Amino acid sequence: MPRAYLSRRYRFSASHRLHTDVLSAEENQRAFGKCNNPHGHGHNYVVEITVAGQIDAATGMVCDLGVLDGFANEQVVSRFDHTNLNTLPCFAEQVSTTENLNIEVARIFQSFTAAQVVRVHVEETSNNSFDFIGSLPATPGRP
Ligand code: NI
Repeated sequence: MPRAYLSRRYRFSASHRLHTDVLSAEENQRAFGKCNNPHGHGHNYVVEITVAGQIDAATGMVCDLGVLDGFANEQVVSRFDHTNLNTLPCFAEQVSTTENLNIEVARIFQSFTAAQVVRVHVEETSNNSFDFIGSLPATPGRP
């Protein structure tokens, strides 16, 4: 059977502040500009997951959408929606940039077993988006 690619989009809203204790106040301001504002700001994030695999001979599908939706909503949307990203354990020691958020979503999808995840795409604004393609080294103790 031919290989197929399926992409599905999910949305959540969250706030963040780009700041690191590694840099001084002035350096944070220089690196992050208004995104370093102490009060933070929000985004309507879009996450697009692409899975790939053989088309199932019986169902004609590459992945059951219900299974993909269930995983994404439970593991990604409910985890990040209406949160301040900076308060989450995964951003305790790294800046809550969308580059890092993209990796976190890819890390979460490492435990998705119904199909092979080949791309994780995160849109921060209509002008900014980030892609993770490939595989991550296993991190003990991380979901
Ligand atoms: Ni931002």
